[in-house]
Amino acid sequence: MTETDAHGPDPWVQYFARRGHPRAQRLASGMEGTVYRLQDGMVAKVWAGRAPEDFGLTRRLYADIARHPLPFATPEILDAEEHDGVLVSYERELGGRPPRSDGDGRWPPRDLPRRETDALLTVLRALASVPGTEAMRRLVVQGDDRPLWQGHSRFPDALAALVERAADRNREALAAQVPGLADVVSRTAAAVRALPDRPVSVVHGDLVPPNIHLDETGRPVAVLDFGFCTTAGDPAFEAAVTAAVWDMYGPEAAHHTAELTRLFARELSHPEEVLTLYQKAYAVITYDLFGAGPHDGHFRWCAALLR
Ligand SMILES: Nc1ncnc2c1ncn2[C@@H]1O[C@H](COP(=O)(O)OP(=O)(O)O)[C@@H](O)[C@H]1O
Ligand SMILES: [Mg+2]
Repeated sequence: MTETDAHGPDPWVQYFARRGHPRAQRLASGMEGTVYRLQDGMVAKVWAGRAPEDFGLTRRLYADIARHPLPFATPEILDAEEHDGVLVSYERELGGRPPRSDGDGRWPPRDLPRRETDALLTVLRALASVPGTEAMRRLVVQGDDRPLWQGHSRFPDALAALVERAADRNREALAAQVPGLADVVSRTAAAVRALPDRPVSVVHGDLVPPNIHLDETGRPVAVLDFGFCTTAGDPAFEAAVTAAVWDMYGPEAAHHTAELTRLFARELSHPEEVLTLYQKAYAVITYDLFGAGPHDGHFRWCAALLR
């Protein structure tokens, strides 16, 4: 009945059993928490890291997205409760499987399979069709201290201000790895601010392989795990970040980022220089989120992008 490991039975498996889910199984463990498959098409997420301060906002975000017909499923929160100060949310189980999971040691081949790039284009086009809403504007990008849009009426202004705030969070650590950082930051913020205003749509902000489920034919059937960097924004920002993060650490990562950037520029009509600018902005707003020094892989990745 209970899943056991070196540390004994998982107390959460026992918790879900007491709550009427005797076959709960741990599915995945990530930065934000642990996901359990219950049964009857339900999963539970135990929020270990950052529980969204205002979970009601997350529910509204998902409801806003669900109002638009998409060719894939998005998360649906069925219920939420607190146990010992920990947030537990219940969601509908989404179908399909991620093409790769964190730490499974599999890297995409140098030439990304066509069905993988087609799946990404489908996801990017569909998300770009979901208009930005008030709930999306009220979300806080991870690591920040206020809603991204607070005090701003244009996405470029909101993002540029975050670039400047985030650079100050751990400026010395980043400056040690990025020569001329002050210049890089001020040029990036100014260039973002100079972007024209465009209609905003939902930005997921973390379209990495574990967050997209594909069916056996490679079609995207679910996009999950909104929240890390979710907001209302320029669809070009989503495309830029996706090109950068789809393969961050594989042996062909730089090649994949360049190829995806070119592909998204061509197929989605985003100027390539805007995509590379947004990639720099992404590096400045996330460099210290997993560790603020060169011991951390994400930090090194961001620093390299900024050099
Ligand atoms: N509603 C769901 N249905 C099916 N699988 C899910 C669901 N939610 C999460 N998972 C699986 O668990 C993994 C981790 O969940 P996720 O919400 O992405 O959390 P994390 O913040 O840890 O990345 C996902 O990659 C996905 O495969
Ligand atoms: Mg995830």
